[in-house]
Amino acid sequence: MNLSALITALGGRRALQQLLDVGPSAVSNYMTRGHLPNRVKPIIYAALTAKGYQVRPHDLEILAGPTKLLMSDMITNSGPRIVLIISGGIAAYRALETARQLQKRGARITGVMTESAKQFITPLSLAALTGEKCYDNLFSLTDEAEMGHIQIARSADLVLVVPTTANFMARANAGIADDLATTILLATSAKVAMAPAMNPAMWAHPATKNNFTSLAQRGVHMIGPDIGNTACGEEGEGRMCEPSYIADVAMKLVEALPTNQPSRNVTSNQGQVGALVGKRVIITSGPTIEPIDKVRFIANHSSGKQGHAIAAALAGRGANVTLVSGPVTETPPGHVNLVPVTTAAEMLSACTTAIAGKRTDIAICAAAVSDWRVTSAASKKIKKSNDPSTKMLLELSQNPDILANLSTSENRPKLVIGFAAETENLFENAKAKRHRKGCDWMIANQVGGDDDPVFGSTTNKALMITERNVETWPKMQKTELAEKLADRIEAEFAK
Ligand code: PMT
Repeated sequence: MNLSALITALGGRRALQQLLDVGPSAVSNYMTRGHLPNRVKPIIYAALTAKGYQVRPHDLEILAGPTKLLMSDMITNSGPRIVLIISGGIAAYRALETARQLQKRGARITGVMTESAKQFITPLSLAALTGEKCYDNLFSLTDEAEMGHIQIARSADLVLVVPTTANFMARANAGIADDLATTILLATSAKVAMAPAMNPAMWAHPATKNNFTSLAQRGVHMIGPDIGNTACGEEGEGRMCEPSYIADVAMKLVEALPTNQPSRNVTSNQGQVGALVGKRVIITSGPTIEPIDKVRFIANHSSGKQGHAIAAALAGRGANVTLVSGPVTETPPGHVNLVPVTTAAEMLSACTTAIAGKRTDIAICAAAVSDWRVTSAASKKIKKSNDPSTKMLLELSQNPDILANLSTSENRPKLVIGFAAETENLFENAKAKRHRKGCDWMIANQVGGDDDPVFGSTTNKALMITERNVETWPKMQKTELAEKLADRIEAEFAK
C-alpha cells in the first residue's frame, strides 16, 4: 500500500484526519506502520472513488487517477462555506442531491447530521460526496479538539437545514440545543435557511405553522415547502423543494444578502402578526434590457425601488416571495427568493417556472418590461459608417406581455396586480389596461413628471383601480406605498 500516494489523493493529512475522525498522532502511526487499519479501508475506498480514482478495493492500490471531473473535484477552496444540517425525515436522502447541487455551484460543504437523520442516510455517504468529514456528535472529543461546534458555527457563510422536519423546527424555535445540529443553530451568527419537508397533515398543524412563522420572523429564510407528492407518499403541501432550487436560493443568500436580518414589519398595519404567512407571491421588478448588439441595449429608467419595496413589505408579513428582477443596483430584501433576469423573454420564463405546478396566491407586476426587442440582435459590436448621412435602422419585435400571460395562465394566481405607468390620461388608460391585460387590480402611477418622474425616485403617488372601486393614494415614499398595497392584499385575503 502506497500510503503517501493515498494521502495525497485524499487531499493531505488533515483531510485524512477529518475523514477518519482521528487526530494527527493516529495518522503518524499509520505512516510509521506503513498501512491502514482494516476498519477504515471502506471509508478510504468510498472517498477515493467519489473523487474519481480507480482503486483496488482490497489493498487500496490506486490504479488510475480521476478519469472524469466529479462533484468532489469541483470543490473550490474559495467558495462559500455552507454548513449543511440534515435532520431526520424520509426526505433526508434528497439532502445528498442538495449537497451535490451546492458543490456544482462552487460551495464547500460541512455536513452535520442529527441522530435520526442517520436512520435514513449514513455520515459516510455525505463524507464521500463532499470529501470532508460529516459531523454528528456534540460530545466527540476529537471533534471538540479539532473542530468544535463553535468553530463549525463560525466557519459558516450559511447554515442550511435540509430537510427540516416538524420536530427540528419545533426544537429550533424553542432554542433547544440538545445535539450538535441545534447547538450550531444557537451558536451561529451566519444566515440560516431551512427547507421544510413533512407530511401534509403535520405541515397544516397550527403548532408547526407557529414554529414556521416564528422562525421566519426571527430571520430564518424558509425555502418552501412545495405542493406535490411528499416523500411519505401523500399528496399535498409539505413536499421538500427540488434540491437544485434549494441550492439556487442558498447560493443567492450567500451572494446577495449582507446580513441575517430579522424580517421587518412582522406586525402589519392591520395588526395581525405574519398575516400573509404561507402565501406564495411572485413580484416582477426593475427594467428589462434588450440587446441591440454585443455592447448596446434598449432599457428604461426603472430602478426596482417600487417592486423591491413591495417584495420587502410582503416578505415582512410572512409571505413566501419570489422576486423576479431585471438588472438593478437596489439591494434585494432579505427573505425573498431572488431570480435575476435580463430580458423580457427571461422574465416571462422565470415567472412561468415560478408558478408552474404550484399554487401561487398573488402576482404583482411592477417591472417596466420593454415592450419591444431588436428582432435580430447582432452578435458583435455594430460598426458605424464613415458616411455621417447613413441611417441606422433597427427592426423591433413586440415582447410577450408577462402580466397578460400570468392573468390568463392555467396556474393563474388568485390575485393578479399590474402597475400602469402613464404620462397622460392616467385613469382612463390604466382602467383600459386593467381590462385588456386581465388583471384584478391596477396601480396607476403618473410617470415622467418634472417634479417627480417616479422612475428612479423614492416617492410615488397612485390610483388603485379595481373592478368596482378607485382609491386615490397621495404622494408618499415607495416603501409606504408598498405597505399600503400589502394592507389591501391582507384585507382581500381576510375576506
Ligand atoms: O422601478 P422604479 O424606479 O421604482 O419605478 C417604478 C415603476 C414606475 C417602474 C413602477 O411603479 C411601474 O409603474 N411599473 C410598471 C411600468 C410599466 O411598464 O408599465 P406599463 O404601463 O407599460 O405596463 C403595464 C403592466 O404590464 C405593468 O404591470 C408591466 O409590468 C406589465 N407588462 C408590460 C409589458 C410587458 N411586455 N409585459 C408586462 O408584464
